[in-house]
Amino acid sequence: MCGIVGYIGKKNVKDVLLTGLKALEYRGYDSAGIALRNDDEIQIIKNTGRIKKLEQKINQTKLIKATSGIAHTRWATHGEANITNAHPHQVGKITLVHNGIIENMEELKTKLLNKGYEFKTETDTEVVAALIDSYLDNDIIDALYKAVDDIVGSYALGIISEDDKEHLYALRKDSPLLLGIGQEENFFASDLTALTDYTNKFIFLEEGEIAKLSQNKIELIGANHTQIAPEIKEINIEESEKGKQGYEHFMLKEIMEEPVVLEKTIKPYLNNLDLLPDLSTYKQIHIVACGSAMYAGLIGKYLIEKYAGIPCTAEVASEYRYKNNIYDRKTLVILVSQSGETADTIAAMREAKKQGITTMAIVNVKTSTIAREVDIPLFIEAGPEIAVATTKAYLLQVALFSLIAFKLAKNNLENPDKILKDFEKIPRIVKEILDKRENYKEIANQIYQNENAFFIGRQMDFAICEEGSLKLKEVSYIHCEAKEAGELKHGTISLINKGMPVFGIITDENLRDKTLANIKEVESRGAKTFIITTDKLKTSDKDITVPNTSAFTVVLEIVPILQLIAYETAKLRGCDIDKPKNLAKSVTVE
Ligand code: G6P
Repeated sequence: MCGIVGYIGKKNVKDVLLTGLKALEYRGYDSAGIALRNDDEIQIIKNTGRIKKLEQKINQTKLIKATSGIAHTRWATHGEANITNAHPHQVGKITLVHNGIIENMEELKTKLLNKGYEFKTETDTEVVAALIDSYLDNDIIDALYKAVDDIVGSYALGIISEDDKEHLYALRKDSPLLLGIGQEENFFASDLTALTDYTNKFIFLEEGEIAKLSQNKIELIGANHTQIAPEIKEINIEESEKGKQGYEHFMLKEIMEEPVVLEKTIKPYLNNLDLLPDLSTYKQIHIVACGSAMYAGLIGKYLIEKYAGIPCTAEVASEYRYKNNIYDRKTLVILVSQSGETADTIAAMREAKKQGITTMAIVNVKTSTIAREVDIPLFIEAGPEIAVATTKAYLLQVALFSLIAFKLAKNNLENPDKILKDFEKIPRIVKEILDKRENYKEIANQIYQNENAFFIGRQMDFAICEEGSLKLKEVSYIHCEAKEAGELKHGTISLINKGMPVFGIITDENLRDKTLANIKEVESRGAKTFIITTDKLKTSDKDITVPNTSAFTVVLEIVPILQLIAYETAKLRGCDIDKPKNLAKSVTVE
């Protein structure tokens, strides 16, 4: 959500900025812009829509020979996605790009209007530019500190100060920003994917620090102008993790990587379950996350409650952070996040920590805010995930919950060794399931012209339905709903029409006949039904079946099928699969 790139050095500034912006496209955006600077001028070029459109406009413009620049992809919050509202914004001597939300924008704007500032846009960002400019005396650092003292909200800022030709400035609060170190060149960006073509040396900017970048140096300046020694991290992204590797879309590539990343994530724990934290001392667990990560948590909840007997809730972070959560000393809060930068999930984590509650996180990006701040980080090994709709990271989050529940329940299970064997087999089984891609294309063919679909199941199968439904709606724009199968009759069934696709998930032997009865009910009202189940629980030859493995692993078999159905359907509908409209990969604002 919003992407920032900054560069100072000898390369072609425009090229570096555009390369960075293209790499950040996956974060989600609806307009983009760059500011180029040299000793004499600052040139701003902006456009709506994709980076390609911005690039066309840049190519038609006579450019200054720049020595530094800042760039931005904007996901509109204040004001519609038009050229005027696109970043960079320039007020007085300040030109800047911003990711985040300024909550007291109206109050600041009124003060600045009284001081004589005029505003051309509807954005909160222009207010920040004016605010910094209003404090600009001689010292930009002082002005920045004064300005951020006034701001309530979140921000990552990349700044050009007209009077300081040798430097770029960057700072952040509650929105991500990192610095890249090169040879006679330096960078900043929202995440490292924007910079991996240029450097493997990074500094993770902390809140309260101002980064001052020149061509040869990065200084970190703390309050009262104190110099802070930067901690430089070397991070190498493997070639195989970059680009689409011949696949048509990142989403497909990432689904196809599942067997490998599954093996990489679970193998160390299968060799030694003690590597997983011991959660048996906790009396209640709150799982908190957003989007698919929350649905992974929902599966965790069912598994932990059923097999380990620990009361467990799974809630969306945007609700959890504002409610009265009842904790006791033996409560554990588990955050789940691919990016580790989701604003609501971070806020929920900080709130729990403030209450003295132990926090654990299942997270993919090891350098992220959540990974750095949480008490117990637990990592999935998904590698970079670029498609906005998560696939492999979600699957791995589920896999870790399965292992956590298994470890907690192990001593009470009838045949733990057999379950362990299922875990060992699961990467291979997932590969075999993915190899049947043609079958899922066939299903996509049968549903892609529909505008509504339902997913029904009970208990853990319902949790799987939630993710199946979310995946299909977000990439194909088909309106989908997941419903507890037994609840269907209480209203939702009135929406079932002739030919409407209904997916029924059945993995629990005890609930098989109940869910099947609900599937028959919608079938008799004309629905086109698809049952996804195991070999053992098969209800007819039409069913899509997966090998029968334990309750801890069977979910890992069903999910890839739903992901591929979503992918193939979106493809048939001609959707922008990796960058669905209005969505952002990393939701860094509330
Ligand atoms: C966005 C993404 C989802 C993701 C959710 C939570 O909505 O599009 O795919 O599940 O954010 O993101 P996180 O990085 O915290 O897992």
